Order: sequence, then structure tokens, then C-alpha cells
Amino acid sequence: MNNMNVLGVDTSCDDTCVALLKSENSKLEILSNVISSQVKLHAKYGGVYPFLAKREHIKNLPLVFRKATKNIDVSKINLIGVTNGPGLEPCLWQGVNFAKDLSEKLKKPLVSVNHIEAHILANFISENPKSYILYSKFLFPSVCLVVSGGHTQLILMKDIGKYELIGETRDDAAGECFDKAARILGLGYPGGPVIAQQAARWKPETRNQKPEIKLPRPMMYQKNYDFSFSGLKTAVLYRVKSDKRQVTREKYIQEMCAEVQQAIIDVLIHKTIKAAKDFKAKSIILGGGVAANDELRKQFKEKIQKEIPNTKYLIPDIKFCTDNAVMVAITAYFHRQEVKRINWKKVEVDANLRI
Ligand code: KG4
Ligand code: ZN
Repeated sequence: MNNMNVLGVDTSCDDTCVALLKSENSKLEILSNVISSQVKLHAKYGGVYPFLAKREHIKNLPLVFRKATKNIDVSKINLIGVTNGPGLEPCLWQGVNFAKDLSEKLKKPLVSVNHIEAHILANFISENPKSYILYSKFLFPSVCLVVSGGHTQLILMKDIGKYELIGETRDDAAGECFDKAARILGLGYPGGPVIAQQAARWKPETRNQKPEIKLPRPMMYQKNYDFSFSGLKTAVLYRVKSDKRQVTREKYIQEMCAEVQQAIIDVLIHKTIKAAKDFKAKSIILGGGVAANDELRKQFKEKIQKEIPNTKYLIPDIKFCTDNAVMVAITAYFHRQEVKRINWKKVEVDANLRI
């Protein structure tokens, strides 16, 4: 079945997301992409408070669904995809239960979607309804870096559905490091965008001047593809507590943000390029909320051009880096032959609370 309407649902963290994707002869058109953000609610906790997020998902799901499907007769939905992990357990269940009920009511198949795979496949979303899917066999093997608030993983991708985890964070995720550093600096939640904003304001006095603050680049030169970001966050904390430099608070924050951001970028780029060289990757694919970072996107491009210029570089459109349900719908579309029953015991869960 090539022509179909695919509904995507994602409640893996603090956003309630429902989207509708129409496929027609290998062209995909986004019919709707609705996200109800809970950022303001969680901001006062400096992170996501799972049980509060669950309550909001219960309240928001029917409204978000109605909005996403307002221009279509719901009986015309052919396939439903829902994120069933990894994510925050109380939140995941809300989307899974909602999608399960809907699939039973509409008698339409349900595909369970892995959130990390969805972040990778976000690269194949195009907003131009006339364009063909960008997927090509020539991209593989690919080294994918998924960097979000909950995950930092390097994945060797041999094709859609064929993945091998080659490295991951041993403690905090890169996005979590942005969030925690922002909390230490009193900048609010989520930390990534605000740290990027402050970092962009830091103006060196000479062109090549680097921030005076020097933070560690944890595990950067180790011979593996793993990451560690909790030490970086601790370094920010100690530095902020002990620093006696005579600069205004405004300038200090800007310089600290520039250095935190650069430390994270240096490690991510170094390890990903090393993996791409070692595995002779034909492409590097980014995904996840941190991939929305302008400096990361730019510096990755420069480094790839300089060191491995024949390697293709894929990054999702900024709005498809952070959580959304279009990426879930496109993943379900790619896996449409494999309608999977959701196994209640197998929902993958991040045991750690994110605050
Ligand atoms: O993928 P995502 O929306 O949710 C998870 O699956 O976790 O990622 C959210 C994370 C947050 O930690 C947020 O601070 C980070 O992505 N983030 C950014 C930027 N935008 C969002 N980090 C750095 N720079 C950004 N521009
Ligand atoms: Zn995500």
C-alpha cells in the first residue's frame, strides 16, 4: 500500500505530539504537525517532572489529536505509529494507550516506533510535498549521532531498520549537560537554546581569542565511542562557585556559555568523525534536540569538509530536531510492513528522573 495517511503520536517526554503524514507515490506530505509544549510548566523545576508531564499528556492528547486531524475524516487514517520507548515511563504509557485505543476503534494497524530511530529518520522529512523521499542506499553505512535531553548515542546504520549501537554516554546526555549547566547559571529550562543564545553574544576582543574559562573535554581522546558529560557539568559548578574574575555577570555568563557549548561540540564532533573514519561511513547523520544547535551544525559541516570531504552530511530541519510526531509517522511509514504488537512488558524506559 503506497498511498496512505499515517498518524504519528509521541509522548516520550514533556511534549504531547500528534502529526499526520500523507504518502502518495513515494512523496510525503505533512498534513499536520501539532505539539503541545509543557516547557513553561517544567521550567520552575529546571527539568522535566515526569508525573506532572503524564497528567498534562492525559489532558492534552485528545485536544492535540483533534487539532491534528481536523481536516481529515479519521476513518481515512490507514496506519498509526506510536513511540513506545525509550522515554519517561509514565509519559510513554499515555501515548501508547491512546494509540492502542484508537487503532482498535478505527480497526487500523499500529506500529510501535523507537524514539531514537525516529530522531534519525527525521532526516528524511521534507516540507516540500512535491519532493521524493531523500532516502538512498548510497548513504550507508552511516554513522548517526543522536543527541537529545535523554540520549547521546553513536549508531552505525546499515539501512533503515539495521542499526548497531557503537557508543553512548556513560552518564549524562549532551542535552542534559546543556540543561544542567543552564540551571547552575540560573538561565532556566530548556538549557540548550538559552546557552546557544548567550554563547552567540560572547564577543572575543581579538578574532582568535578563546574564552579564558577552560572546561574539560571528557573522554575526547579515549579509544572508544563513548561519552561522559556529568564531569563537565560538575566543572561548571565548581568554576562558577570559585571564580573571582573581575567581569560583569552578563559577560561572565556569555563566556561560560560559549565554553560549555564549545566543550560539548568538540567532544561530539571528534568522536563522530573518528567513528566515521574507522567504519568508512558514507554519511554522517545527526538527530535529536541538540542537533538544533547552530554552532554544532556549522562546525560539523566545516570539519567534515576538511577531514572527510566525500562523506555526506545530513541534518534534520531545525524544527524536526526536537521532539515531534512527524518523525514518528515517517518511521511508521518506513516500517509499514512490520506492524508490531506493542508488548506491554517491553516498553523501554529511562529510569532516571530528568530533574
Ligand atoms: O530530542 P528532544 O526534544 O527531547 C528528548 O528526546 O530528550 O531534546 C531536548 C534537548 C534538551 O536537552 C534541550 O536543551 C536540547 O535538546 N536543545 C538544544 C537546542 N535546542 C534544544 N541543545 C543545544 N542547542 C539547541 N539549540
Ligand atoms: Zn527526543
